[in-house]
Parts: sequence; structure tokens; C-alpha cells
Amino acid sequence: MLGFHLLRSSISSSNLFSNFSAKTHLFSLLSISRLSNTNPRLQMECYSTSSETSRILIRQLFEKDSSTYTYLLADVAHPEKPALLIDPVDKTVDRDLSLVKELGLKLIYAINTHCHADHVTGTGLIKGRVPGVKSIISKESRAKADLFVEHGDKIYFGDLYLEVRATPGHTLGCVTYVTGDGSGHPQPRMAFTGDALLIHGCGRTDFQGGSSSQLYHSIHSQIFTLPNDTLVYPCHDYKGFTVSTVREEKQYNPRLTKDEETFKKIMENLNLPYPKLIDKAVPANLVCGLQEPIGNAA
Ligand SMILES: [Fe+2]
Repeated sequence: MLGFHLLRSSISSSNLFSNFSAKTHLFSLLSISRLSNTNPRLQMECYSTSSETSRILIRQLFEKDSSTYTYLLADVAHPEKPALLIDPVDKTVDRDLSLVKELGLKLIYAINTHCHADHVTGTGLIKGRVPGVKSIISKESRAKADLFVEHGDKIYFGDLYLEVRATPGHTLGCVTYVTGDGSGHPQPRMAFTGDALLIHGCGRTDFQGGSSSQLYHSIHSQIFTLPNDTLVYPCHDYKGFTVSTVREEKQYNPRLTKDEETFKKIMENLNLPYPKLIDKAVPANLVCGLQEPIGNAA
């Protein structure tokens, strides 16, 4: 049996989530280093940056049209090298799957942080091309997927896991995925914040059930309570940044350092244009993405 599974951590474990067996691998070889942003062609084309330890492998992958980050994570100390993709994009599925193959990983999950409005998820395509891959999204998103997660759940890949933290406000169903805590897990922790917390920014709150008040409380209660050195990996960046930390966002985020009322006023006055792809992307993403890529978002 492969040693990966999704565990619902609440007391009322369902059959689907409760078959976690005792770990057989020691968590003895872990450390994680901050990514260095040395790529001067950051906004010119798709690229990737990476950081690797003896147990966890992470690749940060970029899709330029929607400025989306996809993350590839794997437990490379596990004999099966189980891997997952967070927020894959339809246009870059070929690249992502080629990388998975080249690295000798076994892709088991394609996960979304929320139902995206600015790009079509790659989960539908991935499921069609890699037998056995399960798609995951939050139950609150009301989108289709193979598995649904809620606050407090853990998504295991090998002997590593992602903790699910509900961070609604950008959309009703937004979640942040946080690497495991304690001995054997990467240090510092990593938070994949989707569109809730961006680097020195945050996701908009004016559609898809968004709420600035809810977003403010989500970030302060679920992300800013993580250790200060936790690495913040967002779903998007439009300025060329790749990673931040909880400490940095608590100190310098121009929106989240304000009080709630000021934050709400900022969010009410962004005057952002209607998302170009929302009318195509949201219907597609509600059904786990498309089986074939659609045209350019522009
Ligand atoms: Fe979004």
C-alpha cells in the first residue's frame, strides 16, 4: 500500500478519511531554506524556482498570463515519492506533468485553494492524463472535486501533510494549506495562501461571495497566528515577488497592517476592473476545470 491518504482530523472521521496507518518513516532529515529570487526574467515567461530538503521537495511554477503560481510538493524520502500540485493552471499542465515525470514523482492530488476567477484550473486535464489523481477543493467552495476538505483536515502525501485552514473573504470557500508542524516537518512552515494573502497585498473581495471583513479576520486569525518565520506562498504575484514571511506581512503589508475599518475602506475603493476570464473560468472551475484548454485569458 502506498503511504498517502487524506486524513480528516475531527473526531467524526469518515471512512474516506480515516485509514491513516502508523507512520513507518523517521522524520529525521528535515530542513528548509528560503527561496532566492534570482531570475531576472521573472515576468517574461513561465519559470520555476525551487527549494529542496532531504524529505520535502517544492517547486514554485509560474503561469504568465494570469500571473499564477502553481506549487509542486513531494515527499521524496518516501519510496513512492508521492506528490501533489496546488493550483495548477490548464495552460501549463504539460509543463507540470513533464516535471513530475522527470523528477520521478507519483502525482496523487491536484488541489485548489479556491474556485478561481482569473484562470481555468488544470485539475480536469490532469485527472484525464494521470490515472488515479484525485482533485481536492474545500467543501465551502461548492465546486466539484473528488475529495472535499474542511478547516482542520490534513492532506497526507507520504509522511508529510498539509493542514487545511479556512480563510474565506476573497471567496466563501478559500482555504490556506499549511505544511505540518513539529518534528519531521519542514521548518520553517510554509503557508500556501491562495488569493487570501498576497505578498504585500491580498485578494479582492468584491465578487464570489467576498467579504473584506471576513478576509481581514481570516488573515489575522489563521495566517498571522502562524510562526513569524512561516513562508508565505501566494497563488499570484504581479510585481515579481515569489515568497514572503508572516513576519514581513505583519510588518509591511500595506492593507493588513491597518485596522479593520481602514482595511474595509481600502477594499471598497480599489476600483478594480471586472475580471477578464471570470465568465469562463468560474463555470469551468465549478466542475473541476476543463478537459481541454480554452483560449487566452486576454
Ligand atoms: Fe481568486
